[in-house]
Amino acid sequence: MRVVHTIAEARAVRRALPGTWGFVPTMGYLHEGHLSLVRRARAENDRVAVSIFVNPTQFGPHEDYARYPRDLERDLRLLEPLGVDLVFVPSVEEMYPPGFQTWVIVEEVSRPLEGASRPGHFRGVATVVAKLFNILQPDRAYFGQKDAQQTVVIRRMVQDLNIPVEIVICPTVREPDGLAMSSRNTYLNPEERRAATVLFRALQAAKARYEAGERDAEGLREAMREVIRAEPLARIDYVSVADPETLQELERVEGPALLSLAVYIGTTRLIDNIMLP
Ligand code: PAJ
Repeated sequence: MRVVHTIAEARAVRRALPGTWGFVPTMGYLHEGHLSLVRRARAENDRVAVSIFVNPTQFGPHEDYARYPRDLERDLRLLEPLGVDLVFVPSVEEMYPPGFQTWVIVEEVSRPLEGASRPGHFRGVATVVAKLFNILQPDRAYFGQKDAQQTVVIRRMVQDLNIPVEIVICPTVREPDGLAMSSRNTYLNPEERRAATVLFRALQAAKARYEAGERDAEGLREAMREVIRAEPLARIDYVSVADPETLQELERVEGPALLSLAVYIGTTRLIDNIMLP
């Protein structure tokens, strides 16, 4: 497992090792969700690259960039047994040298949901992922369904900019009580950690109402709100029942639907989603 910090070294390793490359972009502080992507990439490609980079441009000015959890030694220990060929760990200066001024903006699908709550977030995500794709030139890249809108934005970017990479979406990995794994879960104190199951419980409540025959999207949103309102430590940012491709809110659920939500547990903002049917 080669661990490199510069773009030049990453390109050199990429060129030196023949075969198909799978790539898993991450911000580190790895958990089983990340590792599931790495295992999938390992199974489907001759070579595997992982990037670890807490990308400052996708954080808003009042977000958690400075205190985002980081532990490179631990991350490398977790990756070592998985058969990863290349770990790319660039510095901020390596990715954004003085004079940097070119951005990738995916317009419509970046606007609602996370985009509405986090202006500029997807500009940062699309730009860094485009750069990583150009640096590592993978055949396949692996993303988690956990960040549903991110998968839509990245697929759109790859299609619109003709980037020759296959995007593979992998299922959300959850704790035994349903909480979606996230590096941000480390912010939760024990009481908040118990309250955080409210996201999955809200999604399950809406799903149950759908399975009982509810097709009015607002009825499903209300099912999620009811569950969240009953949790004193939780505050809703948004609940959504949207078209999984356009991310526009639905009135009626006749075909596939993306149920998603963002909820503050104390000061920690968590997101989750499920697909219907
Ligand atoms: P990060 O939050 O570290 O997530 C890296 C990848 O792991 C993303 O594709 C994310 O969807 C996936 N992931 C996170 N939690 C997961 C879970 N519980 N189950 C399955 N997959 C999960 O997403 C980012 O980093 C950044 O935006 C990035 C794409 C690296 C660009 O900076």
